Amino acid sequence: MILPGLIDPHVHLREPGATHKEDWDSGTAAALAGGFTIVLTMPNTNPPVTDALSLDMALQAARSKARCDYAQYLGAGACNPVELPALAERAAGLKMYLDQTYGPLRLDDMTLWMEHLSLWPHHLPVVVHAEGRTMAAAILVAALADRPLHLAHVSLREEILLIRRAKESGLKVTCEVAPHHLFLTRDDIPSLGAGRGEVRPQLATPADRQALWDNLAVIDCFATDHAPHTLAEKDGPNPPPGFPGLETALPLLLTAVQEDRLTIEQLVERMFTNPRRIFNLPEQPETWIEVDMDALWEIRASDFYTRCAWTPFEGWQVRGEVRRVVLRGREAFHNGEVLAPPGYGINLR
Ligand code: NCD
Ligand code: ZN
Ligand code: ZN
Repeated sequence: MILPGLIDPHVHLREPGATHKEDWDSGTAAALAGGFTIVLTMPNTNPPVTDALSLDMALQAARSKARCDYAQYLGAGACNPVELPALAERAAGLKMYLDQTYGPLRLDDMTLWMEHLSLWPHHLPVVVHAEGRTMAAAILVAALADRPLHLAHVSLREEILLIRRAKESGLKVTCEVAPHHLFLTRDDIPSLGAGRGEVRPQLATPADRQALWDNLAVIDCFATDHAPHTLAEKDGPNPPPGFPGLETALPLLLTAVQEDRLTIEQLVERMFTNPRRIFNLPEQPETWIEVDMDALWEIRASDFYTRCAWTPFEGWQVRGEVRRVVLRGREAFHNGEVLAPPGYGINLR
């Protein structure tokens, strides 16, 4: 089956600052192996991407190392609401961290939310990490600024019901769900191990997971929230939250297609059509992926390109495998081999 090159609007590549977890090379190789030809990369790097200097630093690494196309988010901070708009056209969008997660970018002060949401150009994307009641507050502040808002990694029943109501009332909200919240729950944490089970938002209840499937129509995008940390870190005393996801998202979702939980059209809307519209991404000419829908295989992190060397889906049987990726006329992945060299990827902004 031929599908469009997939778009992942939520990816952490860790460069600059933590290339032992992932870098622009290994992360974009993992993207191609997973069927993604565009990744939008998050700003919670070290240093975080919050000004012209740090943006240049991230983009310089990307320029020489990225194997697929990309754009880089800017992070909302306490001191940068006034200077960011001048950089907006160069970024994938603005990312605001409103709850505690990995990295230094949490914004507690609601007056800062108001400033960022009114000053960032209203036609350019804003993504928020906001859980539960924080999400309700973020939706209100964006509505008061009369601007669109994209809600990252929705995981709870109360969140998806809130978003459904907000959309019904005409509010300009869109949202994404990560595969791990569609396929795992907190009941999986004992077998994963406590450290490996850490992710933000946390794995939720079976009722929460079911509510996501029951409200598929409310979900605009599937986004991996690829958040690689090494096994030594995950199994250590202070396990950082996050799961890798680039190489497991499509096979898990294709398996769901073959189990009649989802149609292929619904998948393409959420992994191509909608993210392209929400994030104003250009067409990639002569770009497609080829998928073997019958291939039955077992997920093994040792076969993956991500540097973090583990997956919460180890040992899962899936049906559907990426065979070939053609990116802008060039064979970028074929039968397990990444063929696009570092530097082939272009900055879509
Ligand atoms: C992300 C990370 O590690 O950068 N972790 C996570 O658990 N999702 C941060 C985030 O997306 O909140
Ligand atoms: Zn987040
Ligand atoms: Zn994330």
